[in-house]
Amino acid sequence: MPKFIIQGGHRLEGEIPVQGAKNSALPILAAALLCEGESVLENCPALSDVYAACQILTSAGCQCRMQEHTVSVKAETLENSEIPESLTQEMRSSIIFLGAMLGRMHTCAVGYPGGCELGSRPIDLHLQALERMGVRIHEENGILYCSAPKGLHGAKIHLQFPSVGATENILLAAVLAKGETVITNAAREPEIIDLIGYLNSCGADISGAGCSTVRVQGVKKLHGCTYRIMPDRIVTATWLAAAAITGGTLRLLHTDVTSLEGILDVLEQMGCQCHCTEDSICFSAGKPLRAVRSLKTMPYPGFPTDAQAIFMAALSRAEGTSVFEETIFENRFRHVDALVKMGADIQTAGRIAVVHGVKQLHGAAVSATDLRGGAALLVAGLGAQGETILTEISHIDRGYDSPEILLSDVGAVIRRVF
Ligand code: UD1
Repeated sequence: MPKFIIQGGHRLEGEIPVQGAKNSALPILAAALLCEGESVLENCPALSDVYAACQILTSAGCQCRMQEHTVSVKAETLENSEIPESLTQEMRSSIIFLGAMLGRMHTCAVGYPGGCELGSRPIDLHLQALERMGVRIHEENGILYCSAPKGLHGAKIHLQFPSVGATENILLAAVLAKGETVITNAAREPEIIDLIGYLNSCGADISGAGCSTVRVQGVKKLHGCTYRIMPDRIVTATWLAAAAITGGTLRLLHTDVTSLEGILDVLEQMGCQCHCTEDSICFSAGKPLRAVRSLKTMPYPGFPTDAQAIFMAALSRAEGTSVFEETIFENRFRHVDALVKMGADIQTAGRIAVVHGVKQLHGAAVSATDLRGGAALLVAGLGAQGETILTEISHIDRGYDSPEILLSDVGAVIRRVF
């Protein structure tokens, strides 16, 4: 099992180019299945989740090729609407293929995604919306069989919560459905705007990207296009947190500053300096780092839940007390025990975590329990004195493309051991 060995305490200094966004690449790969032509997706990160998405496309009958960071998908004729169970287990977000398969083939069988490391993660909002669009659903032995024998039709859908995945699934199901679909209380995350940008470039008719109300006029068919995946805002946040905890100075390239407001605001409260152009950030760490009185995760444009663990790692060494409130997922403090093992002073109660900053973290043998929790331990290891042995890094490989190479280039001492 691969692991990272990190000698902490080295300042990060230099430039890191930011990868394409995983959470944008996955729904866009699913969307490519809707197009009767070739899609060329640039800036696709090389990640295990992206490979799993390509395998789902291949199993459906698409031709899928990845070269460097460009994936091309030809979805002229499709032959299989069952998503193999092994792939559903490998990638929870395979549920995003449900809307696309239904939109194109009017039928889909997919393993019911069970609980995951962040809690139960239900998909009731996805399924209720699809039913309103004419899809019949039944579950047998853990498989969801979904079909719309007469095709899908538009519907008015109000989401009780602005779920990212449900909004994406509805969009994917709606673009080829008959008539108009109106989603209210839709998620407004930048990755949704990116998905809509891709779909509209392929001939879809969607308005309201980035707003709570999104309207989709169904069209007869979609063609392919060449599209560039947006930069990853959570990876950007991770490298900024790593620079902060090491007292470093970093220049991040090819990022998108407009999607980072909540994160940059917190870094400023921590005493860090961020000089931004549209697509780059010159960052220098606050010395010392200051605590952030209250940090509450919220749907976009609030502070992202995906950056919570990563900032907790950085703030564990800040001066003063920071209070985190996790409002999106029920079980998202699993990194805390490992941070405490590294010397952090953190108490949790339900969805609240109170972090009393300590002067120093020390290296330890710790395990990643999930993707962003794993990234938090990576950040903590870079900022700790001594050696950290980080295991279960397959979680990190789901979202970070070659992190040890990028970090070594800016002065970190880290290696992957097999
Ligand atoms: C996506 C992101 C994930 C991010 C999350 C929140 C991808 C691949 N993943 O996940 O990285 O942390 O958005 O920004 O893009 N919920 C329900 N019923 C549903 C759907 C969701 O109760 O049918 C609940 C979830 O349990 C969770 C909350 O809504 O508590 C947010 O979930 P959602 O926005 O759907 O997140 P994902 O799309 O799964």
